[in-house]
Amino acid sequence: MKENMLRLGYGAGFPGTSVGVALREMEGRLEKGSQELLEGARAKKDGFGWFDLPDSPPGGLSDTAEWLKGFDSVVQIGIGGSSLGNRMISSALGFPFYNELTKKERMAPRFYIADNADPEKTSAILGMIDPSRSAFIVASKSGSTAETMANFLFFLDSLERCGVKEPARNIIVVTDERKGVLRSFARETGCRSLPVPETVGGRYSVLSSVGLLSAAVQGVDVGSMLLGASVMKRKLSMRVTISEDPAKVLAAAAIRHYEEGRNILVLMPYSDNLASFSDWFGQLWAESLGKGGWGSTPLGALGATDQHSLLQLFVDGPDDKLFLFLAPLSRKDLVLPRISRTSLNELSYLWGKSMSSMLSQEALSTASALARKGRPVLWLEVPAIDAFHLGGLVFFFEYVTALTGLSLGLNPFDQPGVEQGKRFTYGLMGRSPFEHDADEAREQFRSIMAASAGL
Ligand code: PA5
Repeated sequence: MKENMLRLGYGAGFPGTSVGVALREMEGRLEKGSQELLEGARAKKDGFGWFDLPDSPPGGLSDTAEWLKGFDSVVQIGIGGSSLGNRMISSALGFPFYNELTKKERMAPRFYIADNADPEKTSAILGMIDPSRSAFIVASKSGSTAETMANFLFFLDSLERCGVKEPARNIIVVTDERKGVLRSFARETGCRSLPVPETVGGRYSVLSSVGLLSAAVQGVDVGSMLLGASVMKRKLSMRVTISEDPAKVLAAAAIRHYEEGRNILVLMPYSDNLASFSDWFGQLWAESLGKGGWGSTPLGALGATDQHSLLQLFVDGPDDKLFLFLAPLSRKDLVLPRISRTSLNELSYLWGKSMSSMLSQEALSTASALARKGRPVLWLEVPAIDAFHLGGLVFFFEYVTALTGLSLGLNPFDQPGVEQGKRFTYGLMGRSPFEHDADEAREQFRSIMAASAGL
């Protein structure tokens, strides 16, 4: 536990005021939030189950992963917390063009994610696989989310259509231990299943079988991921002052800046591998904290790519954002070659330089340009993006999110807005007893279209 698992630079996190004063002003609220978090976890309260995941590896994971490796393709069917974490782990730790590798290179099945109920994408996935040689991980905490159920029905049918006698043998459900359609399906057909612990909510489930099964199939060292999360958990549980605690500093900055009118939190990783991390974090932050009128909008920006699309707005637009840079300290590298040609002489400043150091200098330049303008900047460094540090990072962000919510007196584990949308969909699609929700949705939509303009 000697090496830092991460380091947060926050000297430019509270422009216009002394950092020490800003943190002292926030300390009481955060202390209360962190007590509530630890007590909730200790009492195993509903929603707090994620806190125990690093130290309770899901049973049956490696056997199930071995079974899945026998297929040509694996399709994860799930949405929101039942797919964002899977994509995030695959892109952080896997090869960017994984499915294009040969089977020998991959040493594992191809991997697809069917999340949206978009017929274009779903049929495209079907076009890429042979259902009889494919396995389907159907993941849903509730076991009933409409988009997931639609994709599940579609792929189940595709198995039947291509003559698979016992389609349930190509399916594993990852769902609540007791309730939901998927659990009933598992009981009826005897298909394989893994449980999502009752007290773990969808967007906090990545370190359960929901996120780890597909990762294990692709060869991710899930033990190391959990170890990283566990070490982070121990570090976060140590009693230190607020100025030594990156989780509290980050939560304090988010709350304070929101109260000062900066209601957008920009997460800017400088690594393509972490682009999907921003999407995973976006759901975690938005659904956990967007309630009761509160809510800073998470915005993912990828460095250096988005320096060429969003940066102008960040530096020169409204002062309504808090910037969190995410900088890995080591990555695979390339040295830029010297190519002697008169037309290319202007590029001599790049000859012999490492591409990785260029990306790091770009991160530093962008952060500095923002700080120069008086924009609040936080700088989060991680030693590397490997299974161990990714596990730590995941746990850190879950902790910060929960801490921020509890410090604000919000419930970071429910999602009434999402549930309302789900009820409207069920009603409009004819599911009983959601008829009243369908009427209400139609009424609201009439008001939206009460005035319209067209070309
Ligand atoms: O965090 C949540 O609970 C939700 O956003 C879910 O992740 C999402 O709605 C999918 O739900 P489920 O896993 O129950 O299908």
